[in-house]
Amino acid sequence: MRHLMSPMDFSVEELDKLLSLADDIEKNPAKYAHACDGKILATCFYEPSTRTRLSFESAMLRLGGQVLGFSEAGSSSAAKGESVSDTIRVISCYADICAIRHPKEGAPLVGSQKSLIPVINAGDGGHQHPTQTLTDLLTIKQKKGRLDNLTIGLCGDLKFGRTVHSLIEALVRYENVSFVLISPEELRVPSYIREEVLEGNNIPYKEVERLEDAMADLDILYMTRIQKERFFNEEDYLRMKGFYILDPKKMELAKQDMIVMHPLPRVNEISVEVDKDERANYFEQAQYGVYVRMALILTLLEVQV
Ligand code: CP
Repeated sequence: MRHLMSPMDFSVEELDKLLSLADDIEKNPAKYAHACDGKILATCFYEPSTRTRLSFESAMLRLGGQVLGFSEAGSSSAAKGESVSDTIRVISCYADICAIRHPKEGAPLVGSQKSLIPVINAGDGGHQHPTQTLTDLLTIKQKKGRLDNLTIGLCGDLKFGRTVHSLIEALVRYENVSFVLISPEELRVPSYIREEVLEGNNIPYKEVERLEDAMADLDILYMTRIQKERFFNEEDYLRMKGFYILDPKKMELAKQDMIVMHPLPRVNEISVEVDKDERANYFEQAQYGVYVRMALILTLLEVQV
């Protein structure tokens, strides 16, 4: 039995296989419509979510399976003090696979340790979001045709942004990838990402504060939200909010084949006028999240189609 806690849990070869499976699912959905008949997915969300929870549920339903779960801690026995470990152990009796999101870093890992079923980390605090990374890799592969030879700009909250941490860890395994880290001083990537992941793998990167200074070099611009829920005080959040706004004028500085990605939700960091630009890919990215989660469920349940 396998769990997914980090994108590093899959080798590059396994990731390639998973992305190819997701591509086949997109092209031939009918072939997979009964692949999970009789199987149940549990979604245990201790933190709000639209895309991750509903795309997991959509994925299982499109595979012919069924779903159960909770969307806030207050409607589960966590409200009575039950541990994540006990909750997931019990849910193992009711479902075949489980996706868990939790505000505490490492909570899905703790939940997986006594689980009888595969557990998927659907986001743990400011740490990791591996299924968003699978979604991002599929989007890059489909839109750019490759995962190597890319310059990727990551912009916004690089300190608390778990999608950014997971994506950097996944991409450093591909050839000739470089990063431009675009953030205010207070929201730079954590030092372990700089020192262990980037410098430890001899990956070229630079850090800049102004989006305008990076635009012309990028093959991919990955925007992120300044996350109110991760700040310790409102004052700091208000100071940072609105630091970056991608608008049509800034898009003029970018290559014609650059793609804009965002894990969503956005607040105001991408103006709605950019949605009309054919380089904007964030809504398609959300769609790819369904195919890749279908592929992940099939892989972890070892279902052959
Ligand atoms: N991208 C993402 O994780 O979105 P949700 O918080 O809506 O799940």
